[in-house]
Parts: sequence; C-alpha cells; structure tokens
Amino acid sequence: MTDIQNRLKEFSLRFNDYIEQFFPLPDGAEKRVVEAMKYSVMNGGKRLRPFLVCETAKLFDVPLFPAAAQTGAALEMLHSYSLIHDDLPAMDNDDLRRGKPTCHKQFDEATAILAGDGLLTQSFELLSHKAVSADAGVRCELVNLLANAAGAYNGMIAGQMLDLYAENAPQDTDCERLIKRIEEMKTGRLIRYACEAGAILGRAPMEERLAVINYARKIGVAFQIADDILDVEGSQELMGKTLNKDAAQGKATFVSLYGLEKARQMAKELVEEAKASLGIFSTRAQTLKDLADFIIERRS
Ligand code: IPE
Ligand code: IPE
Ligand code: MG
Ligand code: MG
Ligand code: MG
Repeated sequence: MTDIQNRLKEFSLRFNDYIEQFFPLPDGAEKRVVEAMKYSVMNGGKRLRPFLVCETAKLFDVPLFPAAAQTGAALEMLHSYSLIHDDLPAMDNDDLRRGKPTCHKQFDEATAILAGDGLLTQSFELLSHKAVSADAGVRCELVNLLANAAGAYNGMIAGQMLDLYAENAPQDTDCERLIKRIEEMKTGRLIRYACEAGAILGRAPMEERLAVINYARKIGVAFQIADDILDVEGSQELMGKTLNKDAAQGKATFVSLYGLEKARQMAKELVEEAKASLGIFSTRAQTLKDLADFIIERRS
C-alpha cells in the first residue's frame, strides 16, 4: 500500500468507530429502519469525503474531534443515502454495494427508501449540533451549503436527474456539455462540499477558501471519470459493486463519449490542475495533493 492508501485506511478505521455512535437502535419496531441505515453506513466505504473534510479542516487548524469528524459524519450519511437511492430498482437497480447486498436486497424496497430519508435527515441534525462549532453562524453556513450541494438546483439531485435523462436523451443533445454537468453535479458537488466545509469550519480567508474549492471541483469530476473507467475495467471484487453497468444501462459518461484513453487523459489533467490549485499552501497540503493522485490510480 502507498502512503496515502495507508493514511486513508487508518483514517477510515478511526472514523468507523466514531460514526457508529450515531446509530443507537430504538426499542420499538421502528428499529428496522435504523438497522438498515446502520447497515448501509457501517459497511466499508472508503470514507473519502470525511477524509477530505478532515484534511482540509486541518489546513486551518480545526480540531479533528468533534468538529471536523462530525461534519464528515454528516456528509458520509448524506452520501450513503444517495447510494441507497441510486441502487434502487427504479434507479440503477443494483444488487451489490460495498461488497454486500444493497440495502433494498438486504431489507426491502420500502425500508431502503426510508433508510435513505432517515440518513438524509439525520445528516442535518448532526451538522446543526453545537459539537460542530460553537458559532451558530458557522453551523448555519454549513447547513445551507450542504442543502444546496445535495439539492435539485445544480446539486447532487440535479445530477442524478440528468443521469437518468441522459439514458434516453434526444439525438441532437450536446453530449459533452450534458456529461460535464452530470459529473460536476451528481458527484462533484458533495466532494466540493467536503473541502469547502473544512474551510468554513476554519474561517479560512477567501483566497484560501477559493483555492480549496478549485481543487475540489477538479478532483470531483476526476473522481467520477475514474468511477466510470473502473466500471469498464475494474475488478468487481475490489470495487464491491456490479461492473459494466453503465454501458448496459446506456449511461452517458466521458468513457462512452470519448473512450477509455481520452477519459484517462482528461482525469489526469484535472488532477494536475487540482494539485496546482493548492500551491498557496505549499507542503502543508501534501496529503490533499497525494489524494488527488490516488483518486485516479485507485482500484476500489
Ligand atoms: C461511489 O462513491 C459513488 C460515486 C459518486 C461514484 P465512492 O466510490 O466514494 O463509494 P464508497 O463510499 O467508497 O462506497
Ligand atoms: C452515483 O453515480 C452518484 C450518486 C450516488 C450521487 P453512479 O451510479 O455511477 O455510482 P455507482 O457506480 O453506482 O457507485
Ligand atoms: Mg447512478
Ligand atoms: Mg449507480
Ligand atoms: Mg458508477
């Protein structure tokens, strides 16, 4: 394992212990939905988004616990909700997620819908809690931005809608523009949020906040291009999800538009630009720079 892989692994182990506390099981029969939420969060995700929150926050001297970790936990809950709903039969219809049966396979469809709703809602409960920041203005900004990043106006939901639309887009569609918007929104917005949240927690000066946003925008798109490449040539065992689904479902991706080589080249350029955006932090941002490389070199 490379140094950055080790760091991410080490972080994910600590983070898993931390996030588990947010899923106590209620006594009544409603505990089924919490079991489904917990099942979907505690099942071995890479924890890339909380890692980004914590590493960016570190640039601005924000304490890891509880401020950065709780913000990361809120984001990971929201991300896990997006995966549960993405896997539903009405969306990508997937049976496997993070190496295990998808939530609706392990439980049932109605429970999976509610588990997603539960995680989305709980995410905002965590983020608005005093443990994140003593400053209500900071908490409010974090809540406002996450709602926007996850939402239907240029956020993750907008990207998911376009992802479905693109399966049957009219012939004369500007595919490059459409795919760019899909990748920026369905994946890019939550990744951008991860970094911007770190800067908000640390009350970063505007120039430094813009630098991390720039970095995050680039790695967000590169991350989705890598996901699309791995859908074609990855190992199902390492990825923990069914592969070759994009072509089967007629998804519009840079791989479907330009082929693997050009997509790989585009992702590489984005990563180089992302690293250059962090110039003002010099060596303090080395982990974030290494993470940018990892995003396109990863096998899982
Ligand atoms: C999968 O995200 C969904 C995409 C946005 C491509 P990740 O690859 O970060 O999934 P986990 O959290 O590690 O399972
Ligand atoms: C999912 O994109 C993005 C979100 C969940 C918002 P994909 O549909 O490509 O993700 P995977 O491949 O199922 O993880
Ligand atoms: Mg999808
Ligand atoms: Mg999917
Ligand atoms: Mg995919």
